[in-house]
Amino acid sequence: MTAFTSVYSYAAEEAAYRQRNPRSATRFAEAQQVLAGGNSRLTAFFKPFPFYAEHGEGCVLRDVDGNDRLDFYNNATSLILGHRDPQVTAALQAQAEKGTAFANPTEPEVELAGLLTAALPSLQRLRFTNSGTEGVALALRAARAFTGKSKIAKTEGAYHGTSDHASISVTLRVSEAGDETAPRAVPSSQGLTAKTLDDVLIIPFNDAAAARRLIAQHRDDLAAVIVEPVMAGIGYVPAEAAFLEALREACDGQRTLLIFDEVQTLRMAPGGAQQWYDVVPDMSCLGKIIGGGLPVGAFGGRADVMAAFDATEGAPAIPHGGTFNGNPMTMQAGLATMRQLTPEVYEQINERGETLRHQLEEMARSAGVPVRISGIASFFGVQLTDRPVTTYRSAQGQDEALRQKLFLHLLNEGIYVNSRLVGNISTPMGRHELDSFTAAWERFLANIR
Ligand SMILES: Cc1ncc(COP(=O)(O)O)c(C=O)c1O
Repeated sequence: MTAFTSVYSYAAEEAAYRQRNPRSATRFAEAQQVLAGGNSRLTAFFKPFPFYAEHGEGCVLRDVDGNDRLDFYNNATSLILGHRDPQVTAALQAQAEKGTAFANPTEPEVELAGLLTAALPSLQRLRFTNSGTEGVALALRAARAFTGKSKIAKTEGAYHGTSDHASISVTLRVSEAGDETAPRAVPSSQGLTAKTLDDVLIIPFNDAAAARRLIAQHRDDLAAVIVEPVMAGIGYVPAEAAFLEALREACDGQRTLLIFDEVQTLRMAPGGAQQWYDVVPDMSCLGKIIGGGLPVGAFGGRADVMAAFDATEGAPAIPHGGTFNGNPMTMQAGLATMRQLTPEVYEQINERGETLRHQLEEMARSAGVPVRISGIASFFGVQLTDRPVTTYRSAQGQDEALRQKLFLHLLNEGIYVNSRLVGNISTPMGRHELDSFTAAWERFLANIR
C-alpha cells in the first residue's frame, strides 16, 4: 500500500465545509429526527453531512447555502444533459398540463420503448419500472421463470441495486470472501435469508477462466449471469472484452441467460456497452438517462423470455404491476432526453471524459504522486494507488482517510463528485469546467508528499 502524507488535515477541510454549509448542517440535524439516518438514499449521504440541493442549471448545482459547484455527479450519471435542459423542462411542463399520472397506458411509453428497442437490437421487448433496482429484480425473476433454474451469478463487488439477490457480495471484507478465483458469497446487508445467499454464485470480475469454470460447474442450477460491463462502484473499471466474451460463450453452452446491467453504461454509446463491446446479452437492465432526470428503470431482452409478462392470452407467468410504471412524466422527460442523444453527443462527452482522465493522471505523474485514474467513455474514478485496478479486490487497501479528504477538498473547491471519488461528464461541460477540475486537483497534489 502506498503511504501518503499530506500537509493539510482532514479537520481543516471539514471545518471549511462546515463553515460554508451551515444551513445544510441544520437541515440534516432536523432530518435525523424524522428520517431514518437522516435521508432515504445511502448513496446521497456522506460525512460530516450532505449538502442540500436548491437549484441546478446546466452543470452547476447550487445548494441551500448559496454555494455553486460543478456537478460531476449528475444524480449518479442520470443527468446526461445536465440540469434543467430546456427541452426536457418544456416536455415536463406540457405533460403536467395534461395530467401527471393515469391508470392507463400513454403514447409516450410506446414511443420511448420504440426508441430504446431500435437503439439496442438485443432488446426485443421491454417493460418500464420506477428504478433500476426493480428492473434488475424482475430480469432475474424472468430468467428463473424461463430456465426453471434457481441460482444467479454476479461478479464480486458489483452493485445492481438493493433487491435481495443483488445485495450479496457488494461491499465485503476480502478476508471473509475466500479464494480470489472462487469467491464465497457474502451478504452485504442484514435481513437476507440463507436461501438467498445460497442462490447467488460469485464470479471474479475480469477472470475469464474462473468465470468459465464456475458457470460450467453450476450449469444445472444457474438461471442467469448478471454483469455490469463497466464496474461503477470501484471507479468505472471496464471489463476486458475477453471476459464478457467468455461469459457469453459459457452461458450459450448451457441454457443460462446473460444479463447486462446497463443502468449506467447505456451512456457510453447509443447502443450502450453491448454496442461498445459487441457482445449481445439475452437481457438488459436500463435506468438513469432513459428517464431524463425522473425516477425510472427498465428491463427487457429476448421476446421469448419477456413473454412471461404477457397477459393477452391468460394469466401471465410473471404478474408485474406498478402504480407509476411507464408514468407519462417520466416517459416525456426520457423521450426529450434520448431524442437529443445523437452519436456525436456520446462522442463529445466521451472525448471530454478521456481528456479529463488523461490530464488528472499526467498531473499526478508530474507531481510524483502515485495515482491512477480509472474509467472509460464519460466515466472517471480516482484510485489512490499505483497498482492497476481491475477487480474489486485490487481496488481495496487505498488510504481511506486521504480519499475522504480529497472528496471534501473538491467540494470546498466547488467540484462535486460522488464521495467514492467517481464522476461523469454531462453535455453542458466544456473546456472551462475541465480546467476548474484540474485546478482543484493541482492544489490537492501540491499538498501531498
Ligand atoms: C449498475 C446499476 N444497477 C442498478 C442500479 C439501481 O438503480 P436505482 O438506483 O434506480 O434503483 C444502479 C444505481 O446506481 C446501478 O448503478
